[in-house]
Amino acid sequence: MYSEKVMDHFMNPRNVGEIADADGVGTEGNPVCGDIMRIYIKVDEADRITDVKFKTFGCGAAIATSDMVCEMVIGKTIDEALQITNAAVAEALEGLPPNKMHCSNLAADALHKAIADYKERKAKQA
Ligand code: FES
Repeated sequence: MYSEKVMDHFMNPRNVGEIADADGVGTEGNPVCGDIMRIYIKVDEADRITDVKFKTFGCGAAIATSDMVCEMVIGKTIDEALQITNAAVAEALEGLPPNKMHCSNLAADALHKAIADYKERKAKQA
């Protein structure tokens, strides 16, 4: 069974959407089921994440983990955000059923890819 937190973030996700002028975008697919998550970030001059949105084509656990990772990174610097692991996201949701743990693998990975994209874009501007 899903925890109340998982159900809440699945039923009422706070960060769903996309950011048209995002500073970084990361997409991650789940090889187990084929579901896809995309994360958009806005970052200020101090490398702090000021906005984050997600679009996930996946199950309830994938949507809940997407939403939770957004909540966890907003206001953090990119270095702090890079320290967030898939396990930490699942933990923040008070756990996932064992057969749904693979769903949580998307969240931090998609975020880390969005940060890598941001760094790449920034390096090109320098
Ligand atoms: Fe695909 Fe959960 S079943 S992410």
